[in-house]
Amino acid sequence: MAQRVQGTEDLYGGYMRAWQRMQDVAREVFGVYGFNMIETPAIEQVATFVHGIGESTDVVRKEMFRVFSGALVESLLAKGSEQGLKAKQRLALRPEGTAGVVRAAVQNNLVPQGSAPAKLWYAGPMFRGERPQKGRLRQFHQVGVEWLGASDPASDAECIVMLMQFFERLGFAADSLRLVINSMGDGACRPAYREQVRSFILDHASQMCDDCLERAELNPLRAFDCKNPHCREVMRDAPLAPDHLCDECASHYAQVKRYLDEAGVRYEEDPTLVRGLDYYTRTVFEVEVEGAGVGAIGGGGRYDGLMELEGGKPTPGLGFAVGFERIVLALQAQGVDLGAAEERCVYVACTPDVRASVFGTVLALRNAGVRTECDCQGRSLKSQFKQADKVGACLCVVLGTDEVAAGKAALRDMRSHEQEQVDLADLPSVVAQRM
Ligand code: HAM
Repeated sequence: MAQRVQGTEDLYGGYMRAWQRMQDVAREVFGVYGFNMIETPAIEQVATFVHGIGESTDVVRKEMFRVFSGALVESLLAKGSEQGLKAKQRLALRPEGTAGVVRAAVQNNLVPQGSAPAKLWYAGPMFRGERPQKGRLRQFHQVGVEWLGASDPASDAECIVMLMQFFERLGFAADSLRLVINSMGDGACRPAYREQVRSFILDHASQMCDDCLERAELNPLRAFDCKNPHCREVMRDAPLAPDHLCDECASHYAQVKRYLDEAGVRYEEDPTLVRGLDYYTRTVFEVEVEGAGVGAIGGGGRYDGLMELEGGKPTPGLGFAVGFERIVLALQAQGVDLGAAEERCVYVACTPDVRASVFGTVLALRNAGVRTECDCQGRSLKSQFKQADKVGACLCVVLGTDEVAAGKAALRDMRSHEQEQVDLADLPSVVAQRM
């Protein structure tokens, strides 16, 4: 039997309904805040991710799935090297949505100077070559938001408030959500802070793992996220970002917190929260669910330099993304089934002698907008009733010899088992009303 790729999932039935429900809630909640949907390609030039996410991040260095056509693979094998490939031949599956959306905003001039910000949201699959485990997949699904052209600290707070409303609308108990925030500074204050963390790691080199020693050179702030308990212990005494902010960043952070307080949003400050993508400036945030054991269900932050990194004019921006699969797991742990609500439908059953009448009846019901099922395998009446139960029909139309001769149908309520006779001509409107 052919096998699914490890770390990927098939979405169907209740799981698919959950994915659709999540997008419906996103459309409703984000729409109220003025966001419109965007869809960008799942493959982009590697450069788009390298510029935006950062060359030294794990996502770009280790986790990006590269894409080559068969012909290109042949020529690469013959040459034995990737050197000489043009930028447009270096492609990758998107590991996240932000870089592609910002690339699209630059290429399509979605934020012309002096115009209103672009407020965009998206939903789709993302790809990371990680080791699969619970809540960690190689193809997973994100719903995300990118707000380009907004610099006010109120927009950081608004984005976070919107995210928390989205989670509550999905069914999370409000007090189960843990929102952590931090400020990582900007181009003015971060380089000096980064250097301090680098020196700190090198001063404690004998106590740190090899990965952290490599991080000291490539991306020292990532040492705060090291899984090694010794490194974590050492990094407790490392210099912290909020203590090294320039005046502008400190004021921005203070205002974000004030707006969050005003909105009544509970948050914890975590001065070690650094996030795994390099484009962030100033505010960063993540949301976890107490006791769910799936890691962060969402995260984001401000990225005021990203538009420029992708070749656009300097434009502030911010956003977040949430992970569908982790949200489903975390909701399940709270007893919430996001995909529970099946579409209501009606089943048309018949005795074998009037099978030909089913076709027109089903057509009339569907023309009236009613989701309608019927037998297409020559089942007995008894097993058609079983089938009606199986597909979750709330009503069953029964056509028998006498009914059809009299121009009528029996309409059975599948829960109360009450039955009534309805004129075939009135059936679509009666059924539509009952649904
Ligand atoms: P991220 O934190 O890398 O941020 O991913 C956002 C969410 O996607 C995570 O909180 C998690 O729920 C989910 N996720 C990430 N990796 C996996 C995986 N391998 N398997 C399952 N779920 C996963 C971003 O992607 C940024 N683009 C967010 C953003 C938007 N920042 C600004 N705008």
